[in-house]
Amino acid sequence: MITVFGSINMDLIASTVRLPKPGETVTGTGFSTAAGGKGANQALAARRAGAEVRMVGAVGSDNFAAPALALLSEAGTDLSNVAHVADPTGTALILVGGDGENMIAVVAGANGTVDEVAAVSTVAAMKDRDILMLQMEIPSSAIHRALLDANARGITTIVNTAPLTHEAALLGRMAAIVIANETEFEMLASQQGMDDAAREAAMQRIFRETGQSLIVTLGAEGVIALREGKIYRVRGLDIQPVDTVGAGDTFCGYFAASLDQGLNFEQALRRAAVAGSLACLKPGAQPSIPLASEVEAKL
Ligand code: RIB
Repeated sequence: MITVFGSINMDLIASTVRLPKPGETVTGTGFSTAAGGKGANQALAARRAGAEVRMVGAVGSDNFAAPALALLSEAGTDLSNVAHVADPTGTALILVGGDGENMIAVVAGANGTVDEVAAVSTVAAMKDRDILMLQMEIPSSAIHRALLDANARGITTIVNTAPLTHEAALLGRMAAIVIANETEFEMLASQQGMDDAAREAAMQRIFRETGQSLIVTLGAEGVIALREGKIYRVRGLDIQPVDTVGAGDTFCGYFAASLDQGLNFEQALRRAAVAGSLACLKPGAQPSIPLASEVEAKL
């Protein structure tokens, strides 16, 4: 089973021909809402990949709470540990440009109430062979507590260092497996402007320091990963992206589910990369997460 301890958002999405520059107004070409939040997206991806998933987090007691949880609920995710609090449900204001790139502002709301008490009970409810997945959209104190408790029990921990926060490097280094994009990895490595060779050397150095497995997502270039000193390079599908929101979360959820289902590290990377590519072909975070059958058809 996979426990995701993380954020749940309602995404408010405007499409534009191109993304605005600071201070500029551009005309929108469409508006939609969709369930989102990095935690919830990763939970749904793991569930659609076929894993048993428990989502732990918080929503408000407002009109966004039910739609933010609707797809997770439909997919059969265990939501019994999602708190309903007085703060508003987390929201993300998302602009998607014509080339599929995006800009996001996240307002934590209820996600900001997730605390160390919740972390302790979340890990206490897990079995030793379960997987704990974390991202950076709930308070870092809660993430830190969950990692300490899970590590003490030998539970496999996966930290996705998105979105980039001051604490992401410290928290990322506490996980058994860390998944970072290029920018996040530079912060993890305390080294800027790395080319391929420098990145690989930095991954080997961090592995020697921490012993952890490292996965760096490179957008259209796929991923580079390191486990027990061995480097893996895996590519997704050759696609024209429509909307990349949620693609990283889809990768994380599929990767965790694949490990949970017994695939080896390389097989899990490949399945996750294909799932992440497919998530770029439809708009919205959760609506774009592919079903396991769609991923298998492309493998
Ligand atoms: O990773 C995509 C997610 O980031 C969106 O669903 C949005 O809610 C933000 O958290």
